[in-house]
Amino acid sequence: MDSSDGRVGPGDVRDAGDLVAAARRARENAAAAFSHFKVGAALQSADGTIFTGCNVENATYGLTMCAERVALYKALSEDRSVFTRIAVVADTADPTPPCGACRQLLWEYCGDIEVVLANLSTVTARLRLSELLPRPFDARLLK
Ligand code: THU
Repeated sequence: MDSSDGRVGPGDVRDAGDLVAAARRARENAAAAFSHFKVGAALQSADGTIFTGCNVENATYGLTMCAERVALYKALSEDRSVFTRIAVVADTADPTPPCGACRQLLWEYCGDIEVVLANLSTVTARLRLSELLPRPFDARLLK
């Protein structure tokens, strides 16, 4: 549940348990042979369906795809367009937030969703995407 300042309230950690668990499972599939940094993501659509993703690296490095965008593209390709939150899991003590490119894509396709950051044992941060991407560029500016 949201508090009046738009931040996510304590109840949502418990509610996000399934989402975090799904992101942890997805992380196991990460193709991270180059960085050895495995990331899992789980994006929840408004109908409750969870779409998971992991990072996928390759030998050119630059074609790497982050876990968050894999989850997003899977969801979009399955005709989902309204989302409520995303969980991102990495094996780090400090929260691992989405990279800049993922913040942009999540903003444009998901809006100001809740972002739950977790590691293998606990939730490390909970915030809104607008906190990670203040003053975004988006299609409204193209009009
Ligand atoms: N990575 C993600 O998948 N998501 C993030 O939020 C941060 C970074 C991946 C990209 C690359 O495969 C590896 O982590 C190291 O940057």
